[in-house]
Amino acid sequence: MTSSPAPLVVVVGSVNLDVVTELDHLPRPGQTLIARSVRRNVGGKGANQAVAAQITCGAASFVGRVGDDADGRELVAELDRRGVATDLVEKVQGEPSGAAYIAVADGQNTIVVAAGANSVWGALSDEESTAIEAAPVVVCQLEIPDAVIAAAAERCTGRFVLNAAPARPVADSVLRRCNPVIVNENELADLTGRAVDGPDSALTAARELRARGALGVVATLGAAGAIWVDADGHGHQRSPRVEVVDSTGAGDQFVGALAARLAVGHGLASAVRWATAAASVSVQSVGTVDSYPDVDAIDAALDRLPPEA
Ligand code: RIB
Repeated sequence: MTSSPAPLVVVVGSVNLDVVTELDHLPRPGQTLIARSVRRNVGGKGANQAVAAQITCGAASFVGRVGDDADGRELVAELDRRGVATDLVEKVQGEPSGAAYIAVADGQNTIVVAAGANSVWGALSDEESTAIEAAPVVVCQLEIPDAVIAAAAERCTGRFVLNAAPARPVADSVLRRCNPVIVNENELADLTGRAVDGPDSALTAARELRARGALGVVATLGAAGAIWVDADGHGHQRSPRVEVVDSTGAGDQFVGALAARLAVGHGLASAVRWATAAASVSVQSVGTVDSYPDVDAIDAALDRLPPEA
């Protein structure tokens, strides 16, 4: 395991072994399909976001749980290889490492997660709490227990970024720490009970989350880009037109890149712009972390990005 002396982004979250099948079309209920190809790679929203943050800021640390099994060792080794600090990844005895079964067809996907060790956390250790307190930016998602997310939000002295995915209710006490909470259209609709189908309705729903206490809100809108709102104002960053080959993990790329950009001092509008550029590249090739562009490629995409609407 490797360690980084001063992480800029600490991601507290899930790590899975992704088993990805490429299909001609997504299966209908009751249907059996033969895959065109199968591959295994590191995944989990937390791990993906840590890799994306590492690419942008070069100092990301991952706090998570794996099983004491071969998959767990493979997952940690893969994060190490990608430069993410893993000294705060703990092995859980008697639980398998998390796994995700992903089907991809025509740029769309379905994902079924077996949470395994991701769902078994005790309290945060002293070392984990210290790392969280010291980090400029702390990132969580909803693939780990609520109590861990609440503790991380409570301990965070920098910016707390919550990717509220997969969708489930978020306590107002956690929401009040979010700067920002990041959601896609469906998650925003689930969180607010509002219909969300484009920038205007997304902005209305995002303002409702601000009224509930969120310090900032970002909503990704697929081809329509992303909207953001915080104390400084609001905006709508449009996406470039690209051919979407595989969107799996593009949301995680967005979250990790945005968090890293905040950690090095950018404001929310600038961070959203960077994250939109990064995600627009990753959707153009297959895979999750393997499709994440390096900083030069993100910079080049940034030059091609349309201005805010
Ligand atoms: O967001 C994509 C991720 O969701 C996959 O890597 C999978 O592991 C699930 O957590």
